[in-house]
Amino acid sequence: MITVDKQNRVFSLHTQGTTYQMKADRHNVLLHTYYGPRADGDLSYLIRYADRACAPNPDEAGLDRTYSLDTLPQEYSSCGVGDFRLPSIEFELPSGSHSASLRYTGYELREGKYGLDGLPAFRGTAEDAQTLVLFLEDAAAQVCVELYYGVFERYDLITRAVRVVNQSSAPVHLLQCASMCLDFLRSDLDLITFNGCHMMERCPDRAPLRSGVQGVGSVRGTSSHQHNPFVVLCDRGANEDYGVCYGAVLLYSGNFQAVAERSQYDNSRLVMGVNPYQFRWTLEPGEVFNAPEAALVCAPCGLGQMSRQFHRAIREHLIRDPLQGQRRPVLINNWEATYFKFNADKLVEIAETAAPLGIELFVMDDGWFGMRDDDNQGLGDWQVNTDKLPGGLDALVPRLQALGMRFGIWIEPEMVNENSSLYREHPDWALKIPERAPARCRNQLVLDFSRPEVRQYIYGQIKSVLSGADVSYVKWDMNRSLTDVCSAVLPPERQGEVYHRYVLGVYEMLEWLRQDFPHILIEGCAGGGGRFDAGMLYYTPQIWCSDNTDAIDRLRIQYGTSFCYPVSTMGAHVSVVPNEGNGRITPMETRGVVAMAGTFGYEMDLSAASETDKKIIQRQTAFFKARYDLIQQGDYYRLSDPFQDGPYTAWEHVSANRREALVSLVTGGTHAAPSFLTLRLKGLEPDAVYRVNGGEECYSGSTLMAAGYPLPQLWGDYQSLQLYLKAEA
Ligand code: DGJ
Repeated sequence: MITVDKQNRVFSLHTQGTTYQMKADRHNVLLHTYYGPRADGDLSYLIRYADRACAPNPDEAGLDRTYSLDTLPQEYSSCGVGDFRLPSIEFELPSGSHSASLRYTGYELREGKYGLDGLPAFRGTAEDAQTLVLFLEDAAAQVCVELYYGVFERYDLITRAVRVVNQSSAPVHLLQCASMCLDFLRSDLDLITFNGCHMMERCPDRAPLRSGVQGVGSVRGTSSHQHNPFVVLCDRGANEDYGVCYGAVLLYSGNFQAVAERSQYDNSRLVMGVNPYQFRWTLEPGEVFNAPEAALVCAPCGLGQMSRQFHRAIREHLIRDPLQGQRRPVLINNWEATYFKFNADKLVEIAETAAPLGIELFVMDDGWFGMRDDDNQGLGDWQVNTDKLPGGLDALVPRLQALGMRFGIWIEPEMVNENSSLYREHPDWALKIPERAPARCRNQLVLDFSRPEVRQYIYGQIKSVLSGADVSYVKWDMNRSLTDVCSAVLPPERQGEVYHRYVLGVYEMLEWLRQDFPHILIEGCAGGGGRFDAGMLYYTPQIWCSDNTDAIDRLRIQYGTSFCYPVSTMGAHVSVVPNEGNGRITPMETRGVVAMAGTFGYEMDLSAASETDKKIIQRQTAFFKARYDLIQQGDYYRLSDPFQDGPYTAWEHVSANRREALVSLVTGGTHAAPSFLTLRLKGLEPDAVYRVNGGEECYSGSTLMAAGYPLPQLWGDYQSLQLYLKAEA
């Protein structure tokens, strides 16, 4: 619920358990008064004023030395006019100076949730969301800055976006435009970021806020393997079940920054948005710039509660489900099975083994087009290679369908190899700095997706492939970072727009794909999890979590990912052992348990699988399908932290009505004389009596949560256990 105290100009955004409040003060500065567990009234009493030496006073304050932008909590910070902390917005004025100074001019309340042109955004109707727009003005720059707030009460979720309108008769240059700024009158907080590298993405890193600026970002053109556009600020003592936690996610898939500052007098600020690195956007008179959306969840009771609120909101209000609630198919992907070495008969051979085991979708990965026999050539030529696939998809797809399988296909639209017909015809379509030879990565260059004609051409090629066959699934890959970022068609003064225009271009093509093929399930991918972000999830309901398919490494990757993103978004497959990334050998059962904590599929040559493995796979697919809603739509509880190197990693899915739960557990390396371990469960109905794995064992929810479940001793390395709990009628 949004309440406006018109007289005092106080704006309160109330959700089920939280309150977010702002106030336009006597000088029309928009102050941030509070964000946290639910509170009432005008909370500006929390803000103290004092004459602080060296703190500048704005002109309106006259001789009042207690009024300084540098010490007051700002809703959207200014730049160069007296607040020396992190700026949110910066203009280059005609004088060449850099600054921004905003004053409140009015507000608007709307039912439902605002949308953003060409950008991903949470969706909501009047039943589930409300919108507040606050209008600010920079009189010198003649620019209007509109702050948007979407309030989803049920999820304790507040979305934010910023719209900048040039109201002057001259161009305005924007050097930064953050999506959100969040000030706290305290700094005893921990900052958690999610970091890593290719094959080890989104590992949490937690540290107390230090004096000065700290944070993460990307300048790779994608959200990146290295840092995720999701961060948490929380009470120092916060854990899964205790402490106030603030999660902030950016719905953006390109260069971003999320920076926190602990400033003098122990205040703190979090600023998140498009990275100002090489950013300079020109707004002609009347033009508008939309900053991407950011979303906040404040959870009064711990990190687990915060995650579950994000999961629900992302599933119900961000993802657009092409299958309209139907179960997504269990898939098999041929990448780790064949790499580039396959033909139609080999694919059908794998499918023939997969189909009777309960696998429903065959995904043909990289290597089906142009001269793509290895990763040095062919990208950009989106025509079926009929040497590998005689008769094209027209011949292949019916053979798969005859086995009862659906068909999916891999694409990498944003890339080009120099050894391709496309590049030979259009060498200027790749991003290149005219004065330099471009850097190659995986021997490929990046197409200039900021250019509409490039997007249209590539889309035309891909559309004709998808229109020529019955395709149920597309894996949209992207295997390198952007370098040499310069567009052949933009003038020098507009090159600072290319990174952002590139992302908008990717979003536009994804939207075309969605609209022309509404039934196709799109899985995002960027060399594994290099673009795993909430922006992509708006277009691609699932994202390949990592190229690392080792079950034990995956425990950590999926654990870190789960802090913001739901199980149903995490692409996860069972692959062969020894694992091709690290040589580790894990049991087939364990690989299945870990992969079914994601979207669940296989990525191995099943035609070479042993009879024992095939029986296990058949059991796994049946088990997963029977518990699909529980796993994919249920509440997720982290029961242990795999980074702590404890004896096991455990997690739990609980159905919305709490009548069912699935506990999964994977052990580490074994040793003799293990301790007796008891696992305490979460989220159950205290009074319900749960039967374990359909057997004789029954316990009440309160007993399982308070006293716990005695774990059996598991024999050997990397063993797994699943407990399916069903409440007795
Ligand atoms: C990187 C992806 O993450 C892999 O799954 C696979 O699709 C390869 N690209 C294909 O080139």
